Amino acid sequence: MLTPGEGVLVEVHAAGVSFPELLQTRGEYQMKPPLPFVPGSEVGGIVIGAPAGAAVAEGDRVAAFCALGGWAETAVAPAFFTFKLPDSMDFAQGAGLVLNYHTAYFSLVLRGRLKEGESVLVHGAAGGVGTASLQVAKAHGASTIALVSSDAKREVAEAAGADHVVMLGESWKDEVKELSGGGVDVVLDPVGGDRFTDSLRSLRENGRLIVVGFTGGSIPEVKVNRLLLKNTEVVGAGWGAYVMGKPQLNIEIGEAIGRMIDAGFVRPIVGERFAMDDAAGALHALDERRATGKIVLDVRPA
Ligand SMILES: NC(=O)c1ccc[n+]([C@@H]2O[C@H](COP(=O)([O-])OP(=O)(O)OC[C@H]3O[C@@H](n4cnc5c(N)ncnc54)[C@H](OP(=O)(O)O)[C@@H]3O)[C@@H](O)[C@H]2O)c1
Repeated sequence: MLTPGEGVLVEVHAAGVSFPELLQTRGEYQMKPPLPFVPGSEVGGIVIGAPAGAAVAEGDRVAAFCALGGWAETAVAPAFFTFKLPDSMDFAQGAGLVLNYHTAYFSLVLRGRLKEGESVLVHGAAGGVGTASLQVAKAHGASTIALVSSDAKREVAEAAGADHVVMLGESWKDEVKELSGGGVDVVLDPVGGDRFTDSLRSLRENGRLIVVGFTGGSIPEVKVNRLLLKNTEVVGAGWGAYVMGKPQLNIEIGEAIGRMIDAGFVRPIVGERFAMDDAAGALHALDERRATGKIVLDVRPA
């Protein structure tokens, strides 16, 4: 879909499964492809053909973002969305490298203006966007607080590098304020719902609440007097819509993530793996709030 001209042809070994695909199957995502369509926004695999001028060539192991059509044996992605996979990463990690990490970088750094030494609260911190955001925040010298709903998710957030983990419950806001010495600089929110007002209350002066998604189900509303009273901001971060028409920006974000990989900060955490013919099972795991890290379909034997 992203390659009306020439694209990079990828032999798919692993395909990523993310919340947008779940929403697409219900027609609830902002992009509504005509039916029938093959889902699958990103893959890890091997290049079997690349247009002239692409930074990748036949035989390269890559992570690629194709938007649709990734749950297949062969996928096509634009050259600007195809990135060499380091030897240290397997194909499953490659299938979790673009959507979540580009979103995390775009949200925290480009939209949220995260600076070294600031503090970040990450909602849904054991999920795909959540684990990526913890790692990107650490790479930028921030301290991190992860908010999660279970002990199993606590372990995943810790593995992703959270400095502190707070359990979702009555007192999470107070715990966050105490841990951050009065409030955090940035809240990264892929969950939304009824925790939004407490997220605003968790910010310190000049704080930014970055709206990334609504896995909690409802879209919160904000009383803007709260922003005035504490000099805070609510910032929207819609990665796909912003970057799609900007090839060079995607290359630059890919390079920034490459530097974070080389420095040892970025390392996709793969959760449950499903066979291709159980893609529906993978979507159910997301829907039932069971997912941790990145859910992956093994398209070819691992
Ligand atoms: N803005 C963008 O550009 C952009 C890009 C990519 C994805 N997104 C959005 O970001 C969100 C997160 O995606 P993801 O792939 O990271 O999902 P994920 O791996 O399933 O993680 C989502 C987290 O949300 C929390 N959650 C709270 N209520 C939930 C519920 N009723 N059902 C499911 N999860 C619930 C869960 O954490 P706890 O159980 O710990 O609360 C879960 O770990 C989605 O809304 C997605 O569409 C936005």
